[in-house]
Amino acid sequence: MQFHPEVAHTPRGREMLANFVLKICRCKAAWTMDSYIERSVEEIRREVGTERVILGLSGGVDSSVAAALIHRAIGKQLTCILVDNGLMRSNEVESVKAIFGRGLGLKLNVVDASERFLKKLHNISDPERKRKIIGTEFVRVFEEATQSVGAAKYLAQGTLYPDIIESVAIDGNPAALIKSHHNVGGLPKRMKFKLLEPLKQLFKDEVRAVGEALGLPKEMVWRQPFPGPGLAVRCLGPITGEKLRILRDADAVVVDEMKQSGWYYKVWQSFAVLLPVRSVGVMGDERTYDFTIALRVVDSQDAMTADWTRLPHELMAKISSRVINEVEGVNRVVLDISSKPPATIEWE
Ligand code: XMP
Repeated sequence: MQFHPEVAHTPRGREMLANFVLKICRCKAAWTMDSYIERSVEEIRREVGTERVILGLSGGVDSSVAAALIHRAIGKQLTCILVDNGLMRSNEVESVKAIFGRGLGLKLNVVDASERFLKKLHNISDPERKRKIIGTEFVRVFEEATQSVGAAKYLAQGTLYPDIIESVAIDGNPAALIKSHHNVGGLPKRMKFKLLEPLKQLFKDEVRAVGEALGLPKEMVWRQPFPGPGLAVRCLGPITGEKLRILRDADAVVVDEMKQSGWYYKVWQSFAVLLPVRSVGVMGDERTYDFTIALRVVDSQDAMTADWTRLPHELMAKISSRVINEVEGVNRVVLDISSKPPATIEWE
């Protein structure tokens, strides 16, 4: 094939694939999320036996669904660990604790590793180095956390199929490597755990279907994706506590306005990016020389391709004026109007 029938933008692409697979090859459409759950539960039980599993829970859709699926298979043998890496959004740790602590009855340990991550990231601006450092540090924190959990043989992750395709050089072609997702290409070469990745054959829409079939709450299943390396890949250039504070505050405004206007669940992702660019502005009678926030809002089916969302001007105006007025250190908001490809969704 000299084109991509599988991407959302190809007219009648799904139909072409369906004709080929179902009519020409005569395959049966037996792939349902219920059968996927049943099969996965069996496979997980068989693979894990009586061993313990730890899972890094970020509160995102992928790790949450992976946790619920593995919990269904092996119950108390699973311990979830939430690493506060200092790169999470406003109130994130609290809300994850609230959802998982009461709702699902999972064992959840919260580890505050924020200082450690920020120290390692000090003065690092290269995106791939940031990702590698974060991936490595994650695993180290888990390795240490097992000491309090009791020896765990498996590390479970909510890795999806697109994470794998984009992190692996296809057929040895290094040009096909797009970026190292922290949980695939970002992992250290040697580690103590065996990986358990029950979602690695799925795309995001399928993961959400699994989440719903497992009875997870809507607010969790339909949360927008958030990258494993967190705000680090949205804070361009070297990361500092002050820049993270600005980004966190700006992001909270974006999420709040998107939710209030009803747009949050209509788009694939909507977030703020802090650019390492200062520009001159005027606030009251004073000159300012502050940072720039880029507003990134995209529509997508599976994150493989994406287009920028045509938000109403009034909504963008409100987000911009609230960010500039409420977030100290920002005097300019710009809009990212690039599609993927050739851009990517995240800026790093
Ligand atoms: P890009 O920026 O590659 O992102 O267009 C595609 C989707 O993946 C998310 N993303 C990540 N998710 N670990 C993750 O779990 C990562 O390292 C990572 N990097 C990007 C991104 O938010 C988007 O939804």
